[in-house]
Amino acid sequence: MSELYLNGAFVAPQQAMISVMDRGFLFGDGVYEVIPVYAGHPLRAAEHLQRLDNSLRAIGLQVPLSGADWSSVFTRLLAPDPMTDQALYLQVTRGSAPTRDHRFPAQPTPTVLAMAKPMKARDAAVAEQGVTVVTREDIRWLRCDIKSTSLLAAVLLRQSAQEAGAEEAILVRDGLALEGSTSNLFIVRDGQLITPPKGPLLLAGITRDLVLELARGDGISTQERDLAVEELRQADEVWISSSTREVLPVTRLDERSVGDGRPGPLWRRIDARYQAFKAELRRAAA
Ligand code: PDD
Repeated sequence: MSELYLNGAFVAPQQAMISVMDRGFLFGDGVYEVIPVYAGHPLRAAEHLQRLDNSLRAIGLQVPLSGADWSSVFTRLLAPDPMTDQALYLQVTRGSAPTRDHRFPAQPTPTVLAMAKPMKARDAAVAEQGVTVVTREDIRWLRCDIKSTSLLAAVLLRQSAQEAGAEEAILVRDGLALEGSTSNLFIVRDGQLITPPKGPLLLAGITRDLVLELARGDGISTQERDLAVEELRQADEVWISSSTREVLPVTRLDERSVGDGRPGPLWRRIDARYQAFKAELRRAAA
């Protein structure tokens, strides 16, 4: 990374400094976004910025940059590496105050960070073998719709999956499977695509919405409804989705095979549509 954006300036990462009094550092008092970029073209940037806006409003912070401001920041960050797939990371915190105090400062000056990093292409083995997940009790708070930088629960859950040899932890609360620690969740049952509904207990994924849109466009019937963990265990297919991982087929769940243990036919259809959608973006950028 040659430069990042911090509080109105473009600086080398080694020169980018924030105060130890920053509330993002002291309290995790901030929100963030991750936007995938294909050949210089951000995927669903307006939707990501809308979600950032929603997160900021939910924590009572003013939006410091307009859509046009963000857009020119992105253009500059992406310019050095125009053809590589990248992920833009945006973070806004409530800034710093003279003393550590949980209460908001009267006139906060938000800290605004944006940076880009190359996004790895999917490992070819995934499409052949799928990925492994484990279920875990959801130990997060009750406002998972806010894309908050207070990620300790998600960090512990993802690490626990990692230590169990799994790609992701699927989070279960009161018998309902909600989402992954860093992804949304889908199952296929009898040809129907099912995903838990948006609400305070999960993040409204931008990839989730796109997957639903692509499925409907392909004539697949979809349902947004609560998903009991037993249904997850009996599913024909299980998928997880996120901006950086796209849509991944899950073939093992808690040490048992999902369906016939191979990526399923509906996943192949949706993945083909997703790849075509990306190719279209790249063409638009060319
Ligand atoms: N995480 N649910 C959670 C808890 C997430 O952290 C994410 C994404 C998603 C998927 O959302 P989207 O499709 O908009 O990326 C769902 C990002 C990638 C991260 O924290 O790095």
